[in-house]
Amino acid sequence: METKLPEHGAEVVLCAVGAATSWAESLLTREELERASAFRHEVDRRRFVIGHGAVRVLAACHLGMESSEVPFLQDRRGRPELPGTGLECSISHSGDLVAVAVADDRIGVDVQHHPEEIPLGWQLVAIDAELEPTGPNPRTHFLHRWTQMEAIMKVTGLGLALPKTSRTLIRDTGLQSCYDTPFGMANCITLELDDDHALSVCTIENLTWFLSAAVADLVSGELPVLRSWRGDRTVPNSSPDDRQVQPPSVQPKTH
Ligand SMILES: CC(C)(COP(=O)(O)OP(=O)(O)OC[C@H]1O[C@@H](n2cnc3c(N)ncnc32)[C@H](O)[C@@H]1OP(=O)(O)O)[C@@H](O)C(=O)NCCC(=O)NCCS
Repeated sequence: METKLPEHGAEVVLCAVGAATSWAESLLTREELERASAFRHEVDRRRFVIGHGAVRVLAACHLGMESSEVPFLQDRRGRPELPGTGLECSISHSGDLVAVAVADDRIGVDVQHHPEEIPLGWQLVAIDAELEPTGPNPRTHFLHRWTQMEAIMKVTGLGLALPKTSRTLIRDTGLQSCYDTPFGMANCITLELDDDHALSVCTIENLTWFLSAAVADLVSGELPVLRSWRGDRTVPNSSPDDRQVQPPSVQPKTH
């Protein structure tokens, strides 16, 4: 299926978890709606519905079809898929934010609200050196790393089944990190959205790409877009040593 993505390898959209969800509900399958209605908290239901609706709207923009026609599945591990479209996708939610990404290759996205204190449960998970809170701002360092780990878990599709020993940090420039994984080199870019939120995007490719603020008219309608970014390839087939990630240009989306 032809898409508009080849010249823009990835697209990431950040949405608000607003009150209105009917636009998204109208796109979901009966099974998804049943899952949504099982959430105990209304905010969890809205995050789920908006994530699943937004990923269809974004994919539809690139596929040139109606959002309601976009095929959407989740595999047995929960990895979202757009079968038969040639696109890959990822979903994340935290607090009042939902992030969705579509790409022409595997992609993982993770958005995370910064808690005041690093929760004990997280600290127990974070026994690997990469996650150890260090530097002048350990809390921020930890949260950036955490979103990168989550994005890697998603890009591989393994989620928590990805063994910690199977990823090795081989390059780290703070907001841009590269990990060796059984799936290939995982390139992560982290965006500090504001004082309280960070977002990481991960792809598995031996090429250079960067995120920049995307054009405002990419998605329209009822999708409550706060910001969006476009991932562009610049040096296809570069060797790992040639790989570099450009500093992201993070700007609020203007309508
Ligand atoms: C899959 C995982 C990444 C979920 O992350 P999370 O931060 O809890 O939740 P997010 O909102 O960011 O992402 C959830 C979305 O990930 C997607 N997802 C779930 N399993 C996935 C998988 N195996 N591969 C790719 N994506 C997956 C789903 O679309 C899900 O949203 P949905 O249920 O509404 O469809 C998994 O790592 C996890 O459960 N982590 C728990 C926290 C943890 O221990 N992290 C360790 C960090 S070192």
